[in-house]
Amino acid sequence: MKHITNEQQEWINSTWSKIDSKLSKVAIRSRNKLPYTADVNGVHDNRADNMNWWWTNGFWGGMMWLMYTETHNDDYRITAEKSCEMVNEIFKDFNHIDHDAGFLWHLTSGAQHQITGSHKAYSANMLAAASLASRYNIDGKFIRAWNDGNWNGIDMTGLTIIDTMMNLALLYWASEQIGDKRFAKIAMSHADMTLRDHIRPDGSVNHQVLHNIESGEFLQAFAGQGYSDTSCWSRGLAWAVYGSVISYIHTKEKRYLDAAVKTANYFIANSAPYDYLPPADFRAPKESFVYDSTAGACTACALLELSKYVSDAESKMYVDSAIRLLKAIDEKCACYDENIDYLVNLGTERCPRVDIENPNAEMPIIYGDFFYVEAFLKLKGNTFFIW
Ligand code: GLY
Repeated sequence: MKHITNEQQEWINSTWSKIDSKLSKVAIRSRNKLPYTADVNGVHDNRADNMNWWWTNGFWGGMMWLMYTETHNDDYRITAEKSCEMVNEIFKDFNHIDHDAGFLWHLTSGAQHQITGSHKAYSANMLAAASLASRYNIDGKFIRAWNDGNWNGIDMTGLTIIDTMMNLALLYWASEQIGDKRFAKIAMSHADMTLRDHIRPDGSVNHQVLHNIESGEFLQAFAGQGYSDTSCWSRGLAWAVYGSVISYIHTKEKRYLDAAVKTANYFIANSAPYDYLPPADFRAPKESFVYDSTAGACTACALLELSKYVSDAESKMYVDSAIRLLKAIDEKCACYDENIDYLVNLGTERCPRVDIENPNAEMPIIYGDFFYVEAFLKLKGNTFFIW
């Protein structure tokens, strides 16, 4: 990759060797699991039994596919294929399928189709794309996040969340496959709403937004997993940076590149005071301070992609910033012990606040591992793009 010094290259190579050596063993140990965390004795839990629909269940298989593209070690492929089968079980319960169809299928079946050309994987991913497209509100011009019900008094019908930006990759893929722009147009329409209603003028973001379901008009923003309605949840910001880059890659519309630059610059500037290991919310008070390494890992991937589409001077700044985010993880919370299943610690589900009993803070979470691996593949020059 461009702009990498010899010293950085040595660090990339030696860290990569530790990652591959460890994951080649974990791939076998956790073959029949859909892991979320490994917070008890460093052993992966398994959501396949009673939460196979959980939104993070595609990350383990996706990470195995990523490892396979670089190593061609069949242990990664076999575990990835098993994971695809386990995720496909979710199709049996329609009520559990929501906007996270992208995280679930595009990282598993989508990757499998790209790598192996499997028709079964293609069909599963197309079904997931059709399901995601069907969530589009034609009047309001947005993709509804979750299913029926009422959450904290909020009517879900008009609720959008910043996270959906990542799931749009599935819709762009579907359009590219069938040569029909309708999936991509839904994705762009939702992305345009996100630029208008979720991304604030200063580059910070609203996690959740309630809309008028007839006009799409912004009604109210909610804290969601952040500290408050006006704070900035760092993983939400990471979703905005990477999601905007993904929309730019698939459409080449400059407004998405501009959104990526604006949100990226906010992320970098606000991570610097924490030596690049981001807090779970950039605007939380001291008593709610916890780290969220997953936000740093995801943003590092976004910056490495972004660096390919900006001027040379800016490009170097984004590569340097990505490396700072990754080095912070490497030095403060990465675990290369081969007897422990997780790779990255200090991930946080939601920012602690008085009304949240268990924020699941500062623990290993599977998407932290996924994005750490994805970032190292980019640094190594691997051109497989899973999104
Ligand atoms: N998509 C939910 C989260 O980022 O925690």
